[in-house]
Amino acid sequence: MTERFSGSFTQQEPIPDAAIEAALAVLRHGRLHRYNVAPGELSETALLEQEFAAQMGAKYCLAVASGGYALATALRAVGVQPGDAVLTNAFTLAPVPGAIASVNARPVFVGVTEGLTIDLDDLEAKLDRAKVLMLSHMRGHLCDMDRLMQMCDAAGVTVIEDCAHTMGAAWRGQLSGRQGAIGCYSCQTYKHVNSGEGGAADHR
Ligand SMILES: Cc1ncc(COP(=O)(O)O)c(C=O)c1O
Repeated sequence: MTERFSGSFTQQEPIPDAAIEAALAVLRHGRLHRYNVAPGELSETALLEQEFAAQMGAKYCLAVASGGYALATALRAVGVQPGDAVLTNAFTLAPVPGAIASVNARPVFVGVTEGLTIDLDDLEAKLDRAKVLMLSHMRGHLCDMDRLMQMCDAAGVTVIEDCAHTMGAAWRGQLSGRQGAIGCYSCQTYKHVNSGEGGAADHR
């Protein structure tokens, strides 16, 4: 590898002038709410959703206030009810089991490998305990998604992908978020796209 990262992981790059201009244009017209549009006009939020869905190879995208909110929305969208069990890898960030707790569901933790990906043998042993897997691609590491999807499809387990660390990453040429039913993203300031706080959920 010849390329070497020399930037700072804790200080963001400046917001480009074009983005500042675009934000100012919205502030100048003052119609900040996503449904506050003129007849025939698409809101900035709707335009963002369309562009993001196209970039991620999804059909639909919902822009939300955070990655954690995207995860909770995805759980609701696939029908998780209070008291339901949801499988999730044990090595992740607190907002992931937090999203499960926020819909009053119960996390069932799956072990991880030395490579920091979900332990597929442990997952296989626990697949009969839940109907949904919230898979967090922690630190950008993707597991063997072919084996994972085969196992989950065979067991009737719906996969939600937490792509907070894998926006734009791919498994065998297919973008992260497109193997499962819903991809969830964070635009919190330390992520690939910096909007301070923000997130999105998308669906093929
Ligand atoms: C792996 C992972 N999942 C989910 C989230 C939640 O994203 P947000 O901070 O936008 O709620 C984070 C955020 O920091 C994260 O690192």
